[in-house]
Amino acid sequence: MCGIMGYVGRGSARDVILNGLARQEYRGYDSAGAALRVGGEIKNIKIVGRVSELHRLVYADEGTAEAVSGIGHTRWATHGGVTVTNAHPHESADGSVVLVHNGIIENAREIRSRLEADGIKFRTETDTESPCQLLARIYAGNGGDARAAMSELCGSLSGIFSLVILFRDRPDEIWCARRGAPLVAAHTDEGGYCASDPTALLEYTHDMFFLEDGEFAEITPDGIKFFGFDGEERVKKSIFLHWDSAMAEKGHYEHFMRKEIDEQPNIVRLTIDAHTVLTSVDIEGDLNMPDGKPLASWIREIRRVQFVACGTSHYATLVARGLMESLDNALDVTADVASEYRYRSVPGGPDTLAVFVSQSGETADTLAAARGARGRGTRCIAVTNVRGSTLDREAGCALLTTAGPEVGVAATKTFTSQICLLNLLALQLLKSRGTLSVGDEARLIGGMRALPTKQQALLEREGEIRALAEKYSGSKGFFFIGRRESVPLTMEGALKLKEIAYLPSEAYAAGEMKHGPIAMLDEHLTVVALVPNDDLREKMLSSVAESRARGARIVIMATEGDAEVAAMCDDVLFVPETERELFALCGVIPLQLFAYHTARTLGRPIDMPRNLAKSVTVE
Ligand code: F6R
Repeated sequence: MCGIMGYVGRGSARDVILNGLARQEYRGYDSAGAALRVGGEIKNIKIVGRVSELHRLVYADEGTAEAVSGIGHTRWATHGGVTVTNAHPHESADGSVVLVHNGIIENAREIRSRLEADGIKFRTETDTESPCQLLARIYAGNGGDARAAMSELCGSLSGIFSLVILFRDRPDEIWCARRGAPLVAAHTDEGGYCASDPTALLEYTHDMFFLEDGEFAEITPDGIKFFGFDGEERVKKSIFLHWDSAMAEKGHYEHFMRKEIDEQPNIVRLTIDAHTVLTSVDIEGDLNMPDGKPLASWIREIRRVQFVACGTSHYATLVARGLMESLDNALDVTADVASEYRYRSVPGGPDTLAVFVSQSGETADTLAAARGARGRGTRCIAVTNVRGSTLDREAGCALLTTAGPEVGVAATKTFTSQICLLNLLALQLLKSRGTLSVGDEARLIGGMRALPTKQQALLEREGEIRALAEKYSGSKGFFFIGRRESVPLTMEGALKLKEIAYLPSEAYAAGEMKHGPIAMLDEHLTVVALVPNDDLREKMLSSVAESRARGARIVIMATEGDAEVAAMCDDVLFVPETERELFALCGVIPLQLFAYHTARTLGRPIDMPRNLAKSVTVE
């Protein structure tokens, strides 16, 4: 949560900082600020609201055009209300240090009491002011040795942080530090940069230095020096990011989310191409394990597979879990949310394979869960969309989804790319165990190959889905119901509607409705029933009939050609037939579009829903 940015160099610090904040606004957007060094002065401009408003204010001050360095912040409040005073950057009482922070300083209160007892006046309610005041105190006390002061500061803080700092009397430097929250630095002929998210730097370079936990850096126009928290200099290698900055642009779309929904057919294609070996006649489906070790060498020892993730990524793992279970029920496969897995006494060890899935690769709970599993000797694989992210770097073995940067806060294209990749991983695991039949392998890989065309056909029916969204946007609430393969999709459909349209929406395994939720149904509620044409169709239709009898409005998502369902509901949405296990990869498109158009009808800020941030880097 929170996006931070720093720059020092020969270009326009004002442009770099404001562009960087705009690109990271999805990380937090209740307030924003920029501190720009102009001559001997540091102009600290802060607002409650969006980066566009900050942009207006900064550019209204003509002096800021001359800025040669600066730091900036877009905030998702944790400690202290959403006020201009609490917005970052923060300044020490003596004005020597200006600082921005992402994370939570756990010993902030203790530091504050100590410094207040010494007469230092605090101005804000934030945890961030404590490291700011403390750094100023250390720096003043050690004769202005910035490196030693950074080392002492970092060693004194508990909690998680990424920090970017300006020292008033060091005009050609910015400093940054990391423990637990993402931070990337880069250097070009134009100067030195740092940011929370590499997409903020892509327009300048693709060569990124990802700081590790326990590292800080001195950035100048001529280079970057890295240090451990012990103050010892470190040599770091850069990582080349293949993403292109245009991938993080909205193009002609009104919202990133809408653009990202449209990208899905291509991403499915790319994911399959990147991870399968094709022959002219059939598809082998061999996954290239990135560590180069053949899975077959250890997979037979595996007795259980644990998928671990949060939110939409968790729902993607539920789809993969279902696929594995349907093909090999001798294997114990679970899918947990990371925030629970990390605190439960889960089994582990070398007979367990845990797969940690995170779009951002920075979700605090998923990272902690992965560290715990590694500590138990569990074999771990990470699946992430962000090369260089903490999950990618910490995992011994990481698979990258090929979705490109996802900017809309609501996950869309990364959900489908995760499912594709997890399905391929699942098939490879089962093949190595000897439990995947040639027929099932060809059927499922072939089914995945056919998906992009089907997804494209669904995207072309947007008008129909928009009309439905407009019709039902006045509903008091929604129930998404389904069975077996559809259950993860009910969760994703309900989550999308909650997060971007702010409408109450519940996901239920249809058989559970009678055990309580059905009491809520009346004519103000809408039931969205997922009814693929499979062996459970009749049971789903019974649930639909029960809901209908209680007056609820019914929308059915059915398989194309199933004309009979139209008589049982108010509206029907047809999706092309797929392999049973792949239903989510088609069905999700209308649900994403439905949530999108509902939110749009209700005038919600689709790409930046209230109270949310794309990357949940605190627990
Ligand atoms: C929902 C959404 C979130 C994320 C969750 C996990 O649209 O985006 O539920 O899926 O916060 O994030 P990652 O995958 O980055 O770990």
